[in-house]
Amino acid sequence: MYQLLYYWLNIEGDDLKSKKNILGNKEGWDLMSEEYQVSSDISVEDIHYSPLSFGEKSANLIGNVVGKKYVELGCGGGQNSIALAKLGADVTAVDLSSNQLTHAVSTCRNLGISINLLQANIQTLNYFPNNHFDGIISAFSLEFIEDIGTFFSESNRILKNRGQLILSTTHPLGAFEWDTESKNLLVTNYFNPPVEIWKEQGQISPGFTYFRTMEEIFSNVTENGFTIKKLLEPKPLDLNKELLSPYKGDYWTEFRDRLNAIPFAVVIQAVKD
Ligand SMILES: C[S@@+](CC[C@H](N)C(=O)[O-])C[C@H]1O[C@@H](n2cnc3c(N)ncnc32)[C@H](O)[C@@H]1O
Repeated sequence: MYQLLYYWLNIEGDDLKSKKNILGNKEGWDLMSEEYQVSSDISVEDIHYSPLSFGEKSANLIGNVVGKKYVELGCGGGQNSIALAKLGADVTAVDLSSNQLTHAVSTCRNLGISINLLQANIQTLNYFPNNHFDGIISAFSLEFIEDIGTFFSESNRILKNRGQLILSTTHPLGAFEWDTESKNLLVTNYFNPPVEIWKEQGQISPGFTYFRTMEEIFSNVTENGFTIKKLLEPKPLDLNKELLSPYKGDYWTEFRDRLNAIPFAVVIQAVKD
């Protein structure tokens, strides 16, 4: 069945500052997990890339995964990993948050799905060998990583030759303030996107969400040994098709207008050079 391995207690080599940042993100996600999992309706039948939008069944980014070794970096409740495993991949899923992983464990158990679950920091992937995976998938986790250069060079290292990276992360415009009355986005300085420092109720160390310009994301991928094949800015599905989205629920529907005007995610399909 599933296997849960703990690497968290052995995190070594991260500098103290980075350790403090990940501690806050871990604490925050542990506190947020239950509500997030209840209020988001995340499919285990299709891979999601963006809220209220299409999934892999329409996007066709990944191709045939039967017998291929995939790793999901920042797996949360494990839904994308489970969907990949159902397609026949041999999946390892990594996350920092105990509560997010607990959710993944119980879903795997209920569905009788077998994936390897690992609790670790995804900024440095020193717990994986070189040239090991056929593919990496990561959805809405890069934005919690301070040093994305290291994330991409490490991702490149653990992929086999021509291995693919499928990444979905917050679109830079998603960083800025939405004026609900005028239904307009306020962008005061695109070239200097904010770092959001946040705390859930009862949280001791703050969490950090890092927003990046398109150029910064694009350059960090290509300068770390990848060729970008596709870049998508998904729109929500039409209202009458919204139920087909693998990523929906109350958490997202209140933002429907905004998501229809401003992309929430940037999705990148890249291949190791
Ligand atoms: C927005 S959730 C996305 C989860 C999942 N991919 C999804 O789409 O539902 C972000 C996840 O990133 C994880 N995370 C944040 N920083 C991390 C880090 N440094 N290492 C590993 N996981 C991290 C959090 O615990 C959380 O589960």
